[in-house]
Amino acid sequence: MIGHIKITNEEFMLISRLVYQKFGIKLSEKKRALVVNRLHKVLYLGKFHSFTEYYNYVIQEPSGRALLTLVDQISTNHTYFFREKDHFDYFTTEALPRITEILHKKNKKDLRIWCAGCSSGEEPYTLAMIISNYFSDTHLKINIGILATDISISALDKAKAGIYPADRLSQIPPVYRQRHFRPLSNGSWEVKQSLREMVLFRRLNLIRPDYPFKGLFQAVFCRNVMIYFDQTTQQALVERFHRYTEPGGYLFIGHSESIDRSSGLYKYVQPSIYQRI
Ligand SMILES: C[S@@+](CC[C@H](N)C(=O)[O-])C[C@H]1O[C@@H](n2cnc3c(N)ncnc32)[C@H](O)[C@@H]1O
Repeated sequence: MIGHIKITNEEFMLISRLVYQKFGIKLSEKKRALVVNRLHKVLYLGKFHSFTEYYNYVIQEPSGRALLTLVDQISTNHTYFFREKDHFDYFTTEALPRITEILHKKNKKDLRIWCAGCSSGEEPYTLAMIISNYFSDTHLKINIGILATDISISALDKAKAGIYPADRLSQIPPVYRQRHFRPLSNGSWEVKQSLREMVLFRRLNLIRPDYPFKGLFQAVFCRNVMIYFDQTTQQALVERFHRYTEPGGYLFIGHSESIDRSSGLYKYVQPSIYQRI
């Protein structure tokens, strides 16, 4: 019976080491029950008889799909619209006016924002609503480009579908909901095309040593992602964010996260908001 397959200490260690090496995610002993619960279904569907058999399959499977299925099961995708709302308030009242001014001075029209670890899309769509609203009040012609990346295929599929049950929309101000969503006959709501066009979803492993981006971003949102990484991984990630952010651009991290302020890479603005030096 698959449901009764136990994981040995060594098997848990092998799987957690693999997840750490490939995706930076730390699986502490506390996560053991969760890992086992989530992987039982994968073992069942793949007709594996033990975690060792499953592990050997994952490390040998040439396409990398098995690894992605593994991280899909392990990663925590919890998110919601307007999460940590004060970030969006700061972004609207302080960051966007400054970014717009710089764009204007440089005679540029491309606003580029990166949402790193976007999960099922609520965060980038929140940004798209806010940015669209901000520029609809001005006469500026700005090309809005939000790159939204994640490692989880299932989260990205949900994000691209852009369909959410009604209760997931409760944090969205009614005027935004009216403007950017349309109700479906089954009670869910769908993101309108005009909003979708602002967001590009891509799969990207943040642990890569570099990223395939041509230009720099004026702001990076990487919120509630680094919490799953250890300090070494976090520091390396922040260095990479620095490389892909315009001078004076912003880094938003989760409220429970922090970065090393002595690195000389970012200036502290307020809790969980930093500005690139
Ligand atoms: C808790 S969600 C955060 C979602 C959103 N940023 C928010 O604050 O609501 C964390 C996301 O990080 C993603 N993630 C974890 N490790 C990753 C990695 N190595 N590369 C890219 N994304 C990763 C997970 O798949 C998950 O969707």
